[in-house]
Amino acid sequence: MKKNITVIEGDGIGPEVTAQSIKVLEAIAKRYGHEFVYDHQLMGAIAIDKTGNPLPDETIESCLNSDAVLFGAIGHPKYDNDPTAKVRPEQGLLKLRKSLQLFANIRPVTTYASLHHLSPLKSKLLEDIDFIIFRELTGGIYFGKKELNAEGTIASDECIYSVEEIERVAHLAFHFAQKPGRRKKLTLVDKANVLETSRLWRKVVQQVASQYPDVEVNYMFVDNAAMQIILYPKQFDVILTENMFGDIISDEASVLAGSLGLLPSASVGKGTVLFEPIHGSYPQAAGKDIANPIGSILSTAMLLEYLGMADEALLVREAVTWTLEHKFVSKDIDPINFYFTSTIGDLIADFVSNNIPGVVHAQNIELRKSTII
Ligand code: IPM
Ligand code: MN
Repeated sequence: MKKNITVIEGDGIGPEVTAQSIKVLEAIAKRYGHEFVYDHQLMGAIAIDKTGNPLPDETIESCLNSDAVLFGAIGHPKYDNDPTAKVRPEQGLLKLRKSLQLFANIRPVTTYASLHHLSPLKSKLLEDIDFIIFRELTGGIYFGKKELNAEGTIASDECIYSVEEIERVAHLAFHFAQKPGRRKKLTLVDKANVLETSRLWRKVVQQVASQYPDVEVNYMFVDNAAMQIILYPKQFDVILTENMFGDIISDEASVLAGSLGLLPSASVGKGTVLFEPIHGSYPQAAGKDIANPIGSILSTAMLLEYLGMADEALLVREAVTWTLEHKFVSKDIDPINFYFTSTIGDLIADFVSNNIPGVVHAQNIELRKSTII
């Protein structure tokens, strides 16, 4: 197959983690006889520096014309520490989500036995965790009217949802809950005891639920959900929630996996689909070759699956599990005995290319000769 992929490396560690994903894609292309054509485009702080615009039209154009988008990370401290900045990198990502109508962000949460010790939670709580968060992505408080009075003393952000916006993401989540291998359980996370928008979510989800009688639905207030994710994570199968709550609880859920650097995501909607790790731009690590590339590489596995390459996706996931089990992990996971971002990328690409011998010589890997281990 030949596929066009728009690559948006973005800011901070974005370029280095995305480079590992491309290595892996190239290994897949070679092994399975595919061709991936990459179109590199700008977004975020780097786009502001180069063009003055966090999302140039050319980037949108490229995404609209491609089969999938692979995105790295966004954000720069010079904007985070300046609340008065008129143009911000994140505006680029929000505008892209809106332009591509990516109304659902899908974040699977899985844990690896080899990393249980990294979580602040007891290992016993981490067994059998397999849930997925469906976060609404183009509505709510993120996109409502934002106001600041003339004196700069009162600010407001409107949270607004329509029935249609809730329905479309709810259908995706219910469909997913019905898939083979799922436990057919959907939890709507909201704040219906306080917010009108949450009451609308409950009403619409109750209606949608009647079309999926085999899916068990329950409702949970977000404050309780934040607690339950840590106390008893096994109870969740599919979580459906609005934009802001989804943003917050998905970062929280990453603690279960052991590091924010491990979690992938897919943003889907009406047009081209976008894949990105859930972590941010981690500017302190930029350029040091110490970032965790797994979130990006697992996002690439989701991309392959979406392109109809299920075996290829499975192989990438197997390769990731293999590196974790052999402790070929980045600095966020093991601050003492860690491997470089690029070495982990090489190892995963080698595994995909079937270049890994039965016995691995860690010494050679440390010398960064992964292709001849
Ligand atoms: C995410 C990020 C973004 C969000 C930021 C960078 C705008 O935190 O994708 O979770 O809040 O949606
Ligand atoms: Mn976030």
